[in-house]
Amino acid sequence: METLRLTTNESDIARAGEMIRNGGLVAFPTETVYGLGADALNAGAVRAVYKAKGRPSDNPMIVHIAYVAALGELIKGGMEALDADAHRLIGELWPGPLTLIFPKSDIVPDVTTGGLDTVAVRMPSNGTARAFIKESGRPVAAPSANLSGKPSPTTAEDVLEDMDGRIDAVIMGEMCDVGIESTVLDMTGEVPVILRPGILSREYISDILGREVVYDQSLLEVPEVIADPDDGAADTLFRPRSPGMKYKHYAPAADVILIEGSYDRFRLRSRELGLEAMKEGRKAAIIDYGDDPNRAAHKFFADLRELDRQGYDLILVRSMEQKGKGFSVMNRMLKSAGYDIE
Ligand code: TXA
Ligand code: MG
Repeated sequence: METLRLTTNESDIARAGEMIRNGGLVAFPTETVYGLGADALNAGAVRAVYKAKGRPSDNPMIVHIAYVAALGELIKGGMEALDADAHRLIGELWPGPLTLIFPKSDIVPDVTTGGLDTVAVRMPSNGTARAFIKESGRPVAAPSANLSGKPSPTTAEDVLEDMDGRIDAVIMGEMCDVGIESTVLDMTGEVPVILRPGILSREYISDILGREVVYDQSLLEVPEVIADPDDGAADTLFRPRSPGMKYKHYAPAADVILIEGSYDRFRLRSRELGLEAMKEGRKAAIIDYGDDPNRAAHKFFADLRELDRQGYDLILVRSMEQKGKGFSVMNRMLKSAGYDIE
């Protein structure tokens, strides 16, 4: 299949929307990472997304909408079923990098939700994303537009690296602002639970709601075994509530090691490890974002992919304090390192 390169101009966006209505797959920019979109209500189109990504089919998709009112038909009981907390979060944080989980309505196919009876919904703030969803006239199911297991794409070039020839089109937009995926918040229980941390931190959301917001237990543990999506087999020891969180993730071709501690320790250890690697004829690179979680989020996935392209064998990453946005960045860093931290 030839993958069309579309611009962000009106006629190209209209064309992209038409492709979605016809059951096609179109990658598009959002403020977090690039998504791989399909009509969320078309089971065949959604199955094609799993196939293009090489993604295990128990891993549910996020459904993207362009208007708050579009949420109604997707959730059980419609808009009237939303409680005060949901209203507040939607009012304050949509459009934006926040995905909310609710019981699903019957029109959402099982394949979209990986067989779960809940649906994840997000209204992105990126202008191109919004225009594209509006033009499609459908709720758009979209996982990140990478091959399963690889770092999420934050530029159109990164999307093409994984998806050229596998999907109908890519909207060639700008680099994503945020750089890590949305915060996924489960609203179906007594207490809101963060299933995937994002740039909207637990502390920030908790302040908005004026109540406790907790992390899913799986985010606080080191998994004993990480399933490789290529094996298709999910491990039995580590069962987070967000099915996607159990797989090996965000892994570049290079080995990644995370180095903890002070700046001096990082400098010393990265030099030692870099020299060791060099003696073995391996090329080592260093990633250090200081204590700036916004910059780390914005650049981390892009840097991993760039260092792969440049042929590095080892990437030494300076760790960050696991607080606020730093917790979310460290979640991605730990996974990309396969929890190799020293
Ligand atoms: O920022 C983002 O969220 C990007 C852009 C494209 O919007 N999308 C994204 O989608 O990251 P994806 O498919 O790569 O990640 C979706 C995450 C997975 O961890 C999945 O398991 C979880 O959300 N998820 C989706 N529906 C769920 C549900 N009903 N219950 C629990 N977790 C769910
Ligand atoms: Mg993803």
